[in-house]
Amino acid sequence: MDAKSIVKQYGQEQLLRYEDKLSEAEKTSLYHQIESLDFSVLSEIEKKSSAKRGKITPLKAMELSEIETRHDELFKAGADAIKAGKVGAVLLAGGMGTRLGSDNPKGMYNVGITKDLYIFECLINNLMDVVKATDTYIPLFVMTSDLNYESTTAFFKEKKNFGYPDEYVFFFKQEMAPACDYNGKVFLETPSKVAVSPNGNGGWFLSMMKSGMLEKAKQFGIEWFNIFAVDNVCQRICDPVFIGATILEKRTVGSKVVRKADPFEKIGVMCLEDGTPSIVEYYELTDDMAYETDERGERVYNFGVILNYLFTVAEQEEIVNKSLPYHVVEKKIPYLDENGNAVKPEAPNGYKFEQLVLDMIHMASSCLPFEVVREKEFAPIKNKTGVDSVESARELLKKNGVEL
Ligand code: UTP
Repeated sequence: MDAKSIVKQYGQEQLLRYEDKLSEAEKTSLYHQIESLDFSVLSEIEKKSSAKRGKITPLKAMELSEIETRHDELFKAGADAIKAGKVGAVLLAGGMGTRLGSDNPKGMYNVGITKDLYIFECLINNLMDVVKATDTYIPLFVMTSDLNYESTTAFFKEKKNFGYPDEYVFFFKQEMAPACDYNGKVFLETPSKVAVSPNGNGGWFLSMMKSGMLEKAKQFGIEWFNIFAVDNVCQRICDPVFIGATILEKRTVGSKVVRKADPFEKIGVMCLEDGTPSIVEYYELTDDMAYETDERGERVYNFGVILNYLFTVAEQEEIVNKSLPYHVVEKKIPYLDENGNAVKPEAPNGYKFEQLVLDMIHMASSCLPFEVVREKEFAPIKNKTGVDSVESARELLKKNGVEL
């Protein structure tokens, strides 16, 4: 469908408000953008409050004690898969990192104190530990967005991938989604550009497919993808023990989890929903659920996800066409007002649309929650100070012997 029919169909005629004033090149670029965007996401606004959850029941995790006892067996299974070239790493770095408030991609943030130590560098160092332990380079796929592709790739180039060989590093872009006001009217960012934002981390597999990365991964013989967030500087990536546990337990998904600090900690918890793996958000937990215990007296909704998952390629290919829901999130969205002035709002002024990895978990047939030690593996950097911040991550890095 052409741009004019699209804006008519979705009631978005304001996007062509400046059409008459645009040069031919600007017009073409605006039409192309409109034609490439999925405006059907706007219908999610009505569904926003009506999304219903299924029946939530506990899902048992593999806990530290079992992992310790079975360490050698699990490590061997994982290391064998890595050595056979069956494992790829996928770094989710397409986010905007708005809370950290830096204009650069989050991975370019320097957490060093007496020397430079970038977030991307921490992650590569962590991956190198496994490369050394298995004597195998693991292909690394980096998801970026239209907004940070150039800066991310330029940074990796400048830093020579922090020592990771070029032939094992690949970049791809995720899709973008339109951003709108509270009435569902999509904003213009400039007279010839629709306001868009990355469509969430849940689209990684589809974007890998569309960008040809999946094909590349298959040429390597990859059967498993370990996907992980850009901001957790301590996490172990492609951890052989985690991979081995997921394989030996015959699950299609593995999920690294940490024991919750308290029953109401603000972290999504692994569970079953209508019998298939899922994540229950902290605000969805009732008091009864938060305190429910098993026969050992241990709380059953006690393992929080840290955005480090293992997915089988085969199952993702089967379910990639089942569309993931879009979540409607209130955000600050820069836009062009009716008078043509560019506005940078101080408070949320509309909606962005995001697909989330946690919905992919719910589409999987099975999942192994795999416990890791929080003090060793969970140092997310969301903010500059306070909880989940540069400060708290620095503390944990130091505790784990990383020189800052
Ligand atoms: P967050 O939900 O913390 O979002 O992303 P963010 O964009 O990094 O930060 P804020 O909310 O704007 O402050 C969790 C992980 O998912 C990735 C991020 O890069 C991070 O690794 N992500 C998020 C994407 O890859 N794409 C997206 O569209 C959103």
